[in-house]
Amino acid sequence: MRAKSLYGRDILTISDLKKDEVVLILETSRKMQSLVQSHKPSTLLTGKIMTALFYEPSSRTFGSFISAMQRLGGGIIPLQGVAYSSVVKGETLRDTVETFSKLSDIVVIRHPQEGSARIAAEVSSVPVINAGDGPGEHPTQALLDLFTITAHFKDISKLTITFAGDLLYGRTVHSLVALLSLYQPREVRLVSPNELRMPPRRVQKIKASGVNVRETQNFEEILEDTDVLYMTRVQKERFDDPLSYERLKDRFRITGKIMKDLKGTAILLHPFPRVTEIAREVDRDLRAVYLREQIPNGMYVRMALLSLILDSKQ
Ligand code: NCD
Repeated sequence: MRAKSLYGRDILTISDLKKDEVVLILETSRKMQSLVQSHKPSTLLTGKIMTALFYEPSSRTFGSFISAMQRLGGGIIPLQGVAYSSVVKGETLRDTVETFSKLSDIVVIRHPQEGSARIAAEVSSVPVINAGDGPGEHPTQALLDLFTITAHFKDISKLTITFAGDLLYGRTVHSLVALLSLYQPREVRLVSPNELRMPPRRVQKIKASGVNVRETQNFEEILEDTDVLYMTRVQKERFDDPLSYERLKDRFRITGKIMKDLKGTAILLHPFPRVTEIAREVDRDLRAVYLREQIPNGMYVRMALLSLILDSKQ
């Protein structure tokens, strides 16, 4: 079955997407990859403008949305480091989004408050893409992670996928486990210190979809039959208490020695930025795909999303 279209749609959480729509995004991403690799200029989105409204720090997501739009011939309003009061006032966000929705054809938003993208979509007269809403979700990262996984493995139902680190605040993991449940992997393993376990309602949701979920704090014992290892950063900015951050930040660390326990066919992902959770020596390992593959894939997937949402003929 083929998805009709994503034209004019918001992407706020992964649950907004049905499987056939995800398949369409992945197919379109592959076309975008060929387009970029052919070095041919594109005018697909000429005349369209994207606002990138980022209230939280970002390098890769911001950069790849900007690059994606420009590679398709579109224009940009890049707003990074937007000042905001520490107590987020819904009204201010609403006014800002409404303003930029009048100036552009799509608004990409990153904001520290969970649910902010949905508030933005309520007031926006153009489609909204969530580029991270606090500890909530980060659906475009999940799509690029899935795109990366499918380049290595044809059948996700055979995979054991292990997530490690900050599963409480790590929004990329929240979106990716929800997305993977559409593909029913053999097992999802969640490895975190007790304080950083994935919120129970999210774990419940994956279990309810029929996926086998195993939660543990013991990293070493679950590595050897892992096919995809997804590391995350402990999200310092979400901690009220700096001491608990210090205590938890280095709990799991991938080194060259740990990589020896991982299958030869396994892959190691990380949404980046990394702090100390993956040693630099690991970058040379061919199974480490975070720099070589996830970064360019992020651009292809965002090109696909922008074209599907903004071009009625896609
Ligand atoms: C992630 C994020 O912002 O959630 N980064 C990204 O978008 N690639 C992960 C993180 O900040 O740790």
